[in-house]
Amino acid sequence: MPDLPPELPPAGIAGASIDDTPVVTAARTPPPVSGGTLLALREGGRAAVSDSDRDRIVVVDFDANSVVANIAFEAGTEPGRLVEDGAGRVHALLRGTGELVSIDVTAHRVLARRKACDAPRGLVYEPSSDRLLVACLEGSLVELPAAGGPVARVTELDSDLRDVTFVGDQLVVTRFRSAELLYLDENRQIARRVKVPGAGDGFDPSVAWRSIATADGMLAIAHQRSFSGRVEVSGSGGTSSAGVTPTDVDAGSSAPASGGTAGTNTGEAGAGVDPGFAQPAVPDQNGYGSAITPCGSVVQGTLSLVAADGSIQAGPNLDRAVLPVDVAMTSTYVAVVFAGSHAGGVGVYTRGDFFAAPATNCLALRRVSPFDEAVAVAFEPENGKLLVQRREPAELYVLDADGYDSGHPIELGGGSVFDTGHDIFHSDSGAGIACASCHPEGTEDGRVWHFSDVGTRRTQPLDVGLAGTAPFHWDGELADFSELMEHIFVDRMGGPFESSAREQALEEYVYALPRRPARRDANDAAAQRGKLLFESAATGCSTCHSGPNFSSGGFGDIGKGPALQVPSLIAVSARAPYMHDGCAATLLDRFDPACGGSTHGDVSTLSADDLADLVAYLESL
Ligand code: HEC
Ligand code: HEC
Repeated sequence: MPDLPPELPPAGIAGASIDDTPVVTAARTPPPVSGGTLLALREGGRAAVSDSDRDRIVVVDFDANSVVANIAFEAGTEPGRLVEDGAGRVHALLRGTGELVSIDVTAHRVLARRKACDAPRGLVYEPSSDRLLVACLEGSLVELPAAGGPVARVTELDSDLRDVTFVGDQLVVTRFRSAELLYLDENRQIARRVKVPGAGDGFDPSVAWRSIATADGMLAIAHQRSFSGRVEVSGSGGTSSAGVTPTDVDAGSSAPASGGTAGTNTGEAGAGVDPGFAQPAVPDQNGYGSAITPCGSVVQGTLSLVAADGSIQAGPNLDRAVLPVDVAMTSTYVAVVFAGSHAGGVGVYTRGDFFAAPATNCLALRRVSPFDEAVAVAFEPENGKLLVQRREPAELYVLDADGYDSGHPIELGGGSVFDTGHDIFHSDSGAGIACASCHPEGTEDGRVWHFSDVGTRRTQPLDVGLAGTAPFHWDGELADFSELMEHIFVDRMGGPFESSAREQALEEYVYALPRRPARRDANDAAAQRGKLLFESAATGCSTCHSGPNFSSGGFGDIGKGPALQVPSLIAVSARAPYMHDGCAATLLDRFDPACGGSTHGDVSTLSADDLADLVAYLESL
């Protein structure tokens, strides 16, 4: 097991460094990292790789060390999750076009492209029906015959669906931001909802990036845990982001390199436990994270394991596990991809060690260098080789199961897609956190944070077209993007000062983030009735929620305290809970008096049916 010395960026002391690395702009803005784009084929020795950045699917023969097929799609197709059916056909989701593509990986040709839904995210093959099941972000589960033909069934479940898998014979669909599991019955109805459990350390499960079925009939979920307590942000005056005490510095400086021995091991883990376990995760006391305290950031990366009987085991917090976007598991090993970790993005652990100690503990990063920009992992079924996909440069590594390197990567070709804005957005700022930790895939984390200065604040979405909408934040206290960089990236996230060219690259990247689709068709009759109500003088909704983004861009006083920035309503149905303090769990709850009621647009004359129409309209935006 390689335990390489980490190359940590310098401690996140604001003002300590300036990053003026020249800006590189990709020919086409690369899509946000989503992970989980690698499939080891059953036959052995071959893998299919979705290259979301280069709009292609590559078939690799890793026994022969070569690319055997390069199946290209038009720009913006964004191939995603892949699955193999009973007949050996490979099917992949095209996130950009909403299609399912079926491929003959022997003849290297596309058999069919079929529309599944607007935003397909998860994919599984069901042998008993010979169907492919597609989980869609908009909320539906779409079934298509594996052999070809039209959509066989659509079931509406809930918004924000992510992966779909079988745990034993149970069909389980995960939800992305809430890290919730939906257990479906034989009629595809939701029989039970289970939230991935917390670790009992003040961190709540959030953002379930990737869930896979393991060979031994379990469900492994790579997800984040986010701090639910009060986040001290008093450092926004420009002092150190890492408000660590000298003791922390001592402990921390040795911990990441040595696997958390000297001074950091609480001994809680007990005999026989990997010495990589350090102290329980402690969020940094000033800002969003720390460059030196292990697991000192407000967002942790981890893994939970669901058994066929429904029991769930929570894994430890993984130090510097920024963006845990993929996971693979054998009976012996666990591999997790950290797409945001700079100095190596794949952690390989023994399964025994991983689940041996309390979930509250911090497991030092075991990284397999140099896989920064890794986005996917898989164990190859025949002899357990570990495959690692890197997005930039496009490469596939074939390693021994324990993560030891075994030779050179297979170059997938296709040129560089490096983009400075994309890079800053997804990289560990220095304090164990990235913009994408709270804004996964350029959106929001579904969370309500508690800040020491302004109180309760729902994370705002970035995929609503933010160009020209400054000032930023609910209070509008950040006049422009460069203030956001100073007060968030430098002060709270311990990042370096970025040169103005680099800052601008990030700003442009954020403004170009792709929008989520609406949940409901705009031509839907209820939505049309709701539109009239929304635009009526009686409700007055469109006086504040106006223009193409449904925001005047100004402040609005809705009788709930000081005036706040009017939020955009683009794809609003995808991002419960609502309002700056998350007081509305559903769109209908927004009309509750406790959450604004008729001081927020006048809904006093509306019937229950009218309100339902208004909600239908909001769902169509
Ligand atoms: C710890 C989680 C977290 C991290 C990390 C984070 N954000 Fe945010 N972001 C939030 C929250 C919460 C808000 C709302 C804050 C408020 O109103 O006080 C927000 C608001 C924003 C807004 C304002 C949107 C609007 O409509 O006004 C932008 C822009 C933004 N974030 C971009 C970024 C960028 C760029 C980064 C990385 C440099 C980043 N965020 C890192 C949680 C986070
Ligand atoms: C006076 C300006 C104003 C009017 C009129 C108004 N809104 Fe709002 N709206 C706001 C502001 C400001 C917020 C954010 C308030 C908060 O978070 O506390 C908001 C928030 C929302 C949200 C939650 C968005 C999110 O991202 O969480 C929805 C949904 C919404 N409004 C719908 C409506 C509807 C429907 C109407 C008409 C019945 C309406 N609004 C009328 C200003 C207005």
